Amino acid sequence: MSDRPAERASSARDEPLWRSLIHAAACVQGVRAGRTLDDGLAKARVQAGNPGAVHDLAAHALRHLALGEHLLAQGAARLPAEPLNSLLALVLTLLAAAPEKYSEHALVSQAVEAVAALPGGIRLKGFANAVLRGFLRERTNAISRAMRDPVCELGHPRWWLDRTIAQHPQQWRQVIEANNQPGPMTLRVNLRLTSRDALAERWASAGLESRPIGASGLILARARPVSGVPGFDEGLCSVQDEAAQRAAYLLDAQPGMRVLDACAAPGGKTGHILERADCDLIVLDSDPGRLALVRQNLVRLGLSAELKTADAAKLAQWWDGRPFQRILLDAPCSASGIVRRQPDIRWLRRPADIARLAGEQRNLLNQLWATLAPGGRLVYATCSVWKEEGREQIDAFLQRTPGASLIGEPLQLLPLSGDADNHDGFFYAILQK
Ligand SMILES: C[S@@+](CC[C@H](N)C(=O)[O-])C[C@H]1O[C@@H](n2cnc3c(N)ncnc32)[C@H](O)[C@@H]1O
Repeated sequence: MSDRPAERASSARDEPLWRSLIHAAACVQGVRAGRTLDDGLAKARVQAGNPGAVHDLAAHALRHLALGEHLLAQGAARLPAEPLNSLLALVLTLLAAAPEKYSEHALVSQAVEAVAALPGGIRLKGFANAVLRGFLRERTNAISRAMRDPVCELGHPRWWLDRTIAQHPQQWRQVIEANNQPGPMTLRVNLRLTSRDALAERWASAGLESRPIGASGLILARARPVSGVPGFDEGLCSVQDEAAQRAAYLLDAQPGMRVLDACAAPGGKTGHILERADCDLIVLDSDPGRLALVRQNLVRLGLSAELKTADAAKLAQWWDGRPFQRILLDAPCSASGIVRRQPDIRWLRRPADIARLAGEQRNLLNQLWATLAPGGRLVYATCSVWKEEGREQIDAFLQRTPGASLIGEPLQLLPLSGDADNHDGFFYAILQK
């Protein structure tokens, strides 16, 4: 989570940088082949001595992937095959876009060491060395040539940039810049068990600096593993971005209400709903593996709910016919609002995904509406910055659904660079029957 890959990499006690580079390059290679960064990191957690460094290196490379690929194409007479290709692209992103973090000669020599450790790598050392040292000689010109392409400069695919400019003409640059910064480590304080001030004081006495955000959030000055956050194991706090922390407040579930959390895993919002009110909560997710994470979260928080693996849109699978007074539909979406936390998303999504996901959201809205009690409220949420998954989705729903109305105005939150609020992108609408 740190934005300082070199610091964390070089502070690894038992893993030299070259090993972390190999694991991080494997993550980058996986994303370029269509697999998620999380998949790659899951392997790294098992194999790597310093998974935190691998995460930081891979995340940095993915934020600047287009630049690294461009510099490699410019500097190599012939493009190397994988895994060398991803390894060199990764190292070029570090040399070009994080020069202050490394002694460049140490980095090049660690990179060459990494190449030597690849299968058949000994004979590729000279080539890798030549590409990287060639870049260092030509650095200023090579970077300025690359930066003429907005995809390299801004680190997103062309279609993504075009979309952001078209949909957020005033704020597009801030959104894109925010996507290229790692998000802060934000936690939600469990106000059922403690107060924000009390937890912040406890952290301060353990040397952890924090500042408040939103109604019940604290941002840690320095990210760290949750195992090192006092109170986490006791359920006093949960990792959750401030934008996501708003869902439970908007839902406003009251004690004793019958409530549905329709797309719940990994359960960030589930825990918050229950921290706020002892309600009768039914929790659904279509993915049993992810639903297990909800269970773990609730155990840690000492809370309970009825968990079911089911497709929320197929009412016959799970609904007993008793209506809900509150429904949270945190729908599957492009995740275009959380790109700063998941830098692979921009490369994995395709333009056609947005219409497909909007179709899923539409179907979920239509089906779940039947389960809402008259007078009840459904909070529709997506961690997206695209209108098709937000405002347009809700406008179309209101048009085709007699008896549905809005409470308040829908909220489109954007991640914005330089914004003191510092939250992810999210869309919320509160619908009433
Ligand atoms: C945006 S995530 C939910 C995040 C969660 N609410 C939280 O705060 O931690 C969307 C979830 O919806 C689930 N999902 C996707 N389609 C679904 C469906 N038709 N029915 C139920 N769950 C679904 C996915 O498995 C995923 O866990």
